[in-house]
Amino acid sequence: MKPTVAPFPAARLRRTRVSPALRGLVRENTLTTEDLIWPVFVRSGQGIEEPVASMPGVMRRSVDKVAEAAREAQALGIPAICLFPYTDPDLKTADCAEAWNPDNLCNQAIRAIKAAAPEIAVMTDVALDPYNINGHDGYVVDGEILNDETVEALVKMTMAQAEAGADIIGPSDMMDGRIGAMRHALETAGHRNISILSYSAKYASGYYGPFRDAVGASGALQGDKKTYQMDPGNSDEALRLVERDLQEGADMVMVKPGIAYLDICHRVKSTFGTPTFAYQVSGEYAMIQAAAQNGWIDGEKVMLESLMAFKRAGCDGVLSYFAPQAARILNG
Ligand code: PBG
Repeated sequence: MKPTVAPFPAARLRRTRVSPALRGLVRENTLTTEDLIWPVFVRSGQGIEEPVASMPGVMRRSVDKVAEAAREAQALGIPAICLFPYTDPDLKTADCAEAWNPDNLCNQAIRAIKAAAPEIAVMTDVALDPYNINGHDGYVVDGEILNDETVEALVKMTMAQAEAGADIIGPSDMMDGRIGAMRHALETAGHRNISILSYSAKYASGYYGPFRDAVGASGALQGDKKTYQMDPGNSDEALRLVERDLQEGADMVMVKPGIAYLDICHRVKSTFGTPTFAYQVSGEYAMIQAAAQNGWIDGEKVMLESLMAFKRAGCDGVLSYFAPQAARILNG
């Protein structure tokens, strides 16, 4: 459709900006609480809320506190929480067996949320990095990240999360073939209604730094993740990854990081019309919070503007550490 604009002064585009009423009437995109997925860090212990230094305002919570946070999120109308465990270093091994322990932190938290706030959808993270002694998302042998062996482990991890009651499985590992393998295992076990939100286009990014602190993986990480996460120079490849994941049985797809990859969000949504999410990652959150704390920007305005940008780019929703803060404002 070709836009038509009459010559000045028949057209004065400022007319529809003249008042809040007019601006509201013509606003093309809206941000609502229902667009938000809240990533939450889980740690061991009881009654603990421990601040993450590089993410002001973000906590690592013990399972009981995660349940409390879920109740709060439910009251705010946030539809989903995504869990990330901070695993005790003693539980990290080369075979990553803690990843599919039915009683690991993530699975405990799933059950606690289901009991405390049954309306909240629980999303998980599927990757080996929180459990791996070398900080990688997959098994490492002689410096190589093994694909197929990792996928087998990820399937075991997925099934443990499904048994614990997860609603949305979130594979963030970027191995090939994992979506098909997970979907097959879920269907075979009768888990017909568990969604997969695939981290389809996940880039090897510097913006994940604070997250790796939050889950205790930064010290452990040997090398980088460039042999499995995407090259920031690529864009057509993101579409191939999304198409592949949809064909393997993903229900929803994600682009990650967010603001620096809005072009990818837009291309994915306009090409496939599939439910599309962006992850406003830890580094994006940290940058906004740091500038706001210095008084250099209005943190609230920039937060809402950045979240709206995802909607404008075509996303159906956003994973954001700002979720509760944004929801409080959006709920008035
Ligand atoms: C790891 C994982 C990462 C994030 C989510 N899952 C980090 C990484 O790939 O190293 C990043 C989230 C964030 O930065 O907020 N599987």
